[in-house]
Amino acid sequence: MRLKQRGVDLVIRLTAVPGRVGWVARRLLGWTEPKDINELYRMLLGRRPEPSEIEAKLGTHWRVALGDLLSSEEYEHPQEEDFAARFLERIGAFSISVDVTSKQLDRLFQDTRNYWQAAGSDVQTAYWSVLSADAWLGSQNRDQVLAFYETGRGNAESLIGIAENLRPDFCLSEARVLDFGCGVGRVLRHFVGRAAHCEGWDFSRSHLQLLEDNFNDLFQLDRSAFATRMLDSPDLEPIDAEFDFAYSLLALQHNPPPVMARMLRILLRSLAPGGLALVHLTTAPAIEGYAFSLDEYHKAEHRRMEMHALSRESIFDIAREEGVTVPWARYTNWCGPSFLNELIAFAKTD
Ligand SMILES: C[S@@+](CC[C@H](N)C(=O)[O-])C[C@H]1O[C@@H](n2cnc3c(N)ncnc32)[C@H](O)[C@@H]1O
Repeated sequence: MRLKQRGVDLVIRLTAVPGRVGWVARRLLGWTEPKDINELYRMLLGRRPEPSEIEAKLGTHWRVALGDLLSSEEYEHPQEEDFAARFLERIGAFSISVDVTSKQLDRLFQDTRNYWQAAGSDVQTAYWSVLSADAWLGSQNRDQVLAFYETGRGNAESLIGIAENLRPDFCLSEARVLDFGCGVGRVLRHFVGRAAHCEGWDFSRSHLQLLEDNFNDLFQLDRSAFATRMLDSPDLEPIDAEFDFAYSLLALQHNPPPVMARMLRILLRSLAPGGLALVHLTTAPAIEGYAFSLDEYHKAEHRRMEMHALSRESIFDIAREEGVTVPWARYTNWCGPSFLNELIAFAKTD
């Protein structure tokens, strides 16, 4: 079952591969490139393809290549131990540096922000940038947008359920709620009217604009029912510690690690005493050979939806420094392969 889910995750990931022009061409032609084939093998079979396997699949439609692997003997009967060993090896080799100057941090933040603002301001990609599946690509009519917002309902209910389990005294109707990296409010929409206060923070003006338009036009929500905040800089001091419940889904892992670390700190600082946060983070590399160093990063071309990871060690250090505990974590399959992403709870003491 888990392997099948990985197949579904992969389809979603393949729609988010780099380079807009290359991507459009690939969508039209459906041709696989060596890196698609590598990715397919890595994610489905847990190994690199042999050169002959790359050659055999090169230029086939990626759905065909995907189908071949899904129906292969090796996929149906994986060597679980080998797979686990390779996976652990990959996590072990994972190297990132989060120490940057404030000027470097600002540049990383603004570069990332530019990508998201552009993705959100294009009607073809605005919803797709939030959920990277084919269904949300292209201009969406009213019913499609309503269906899009419905996808957030289950997320909201799981978050509320987890909060209630972790904090038996959690009372949504009295809670001040923050959605960090709220996008167009897909999940936040399901908190509005149920929580004492709802606020969405995002660094993309275009996503926030769409949130405000849709909340007003589609859901007839008055501006007094929710608040938004544009994060235009990673320097947000002072941050009022005012939220009882903060969450962040499918957002922070799209930032280079130093920005991710900084945003996590901001989010944790926004918690009121006794507050709880549920944060979705990539804690092991989703990309084989993934590493982050500032020099290498600036040499590469970045006009795409990026995926980054922050080690559990760094996350625990940040939690300790920000005075929160980590009472709970769970792997999720919401963004790429299930075992690499985690929903992590952070609790501030009273
Ligand atoms: C994939 S969308 C997910 C949106 C929303 N969380 C959801 O699940 O529907 C990612 C959103 O996070 C925002 N985001 C990414 N990095 C951010 C950062 N460092 N600060 C604020 N917002 C960020 C993007 O602008 C975008 O709106």
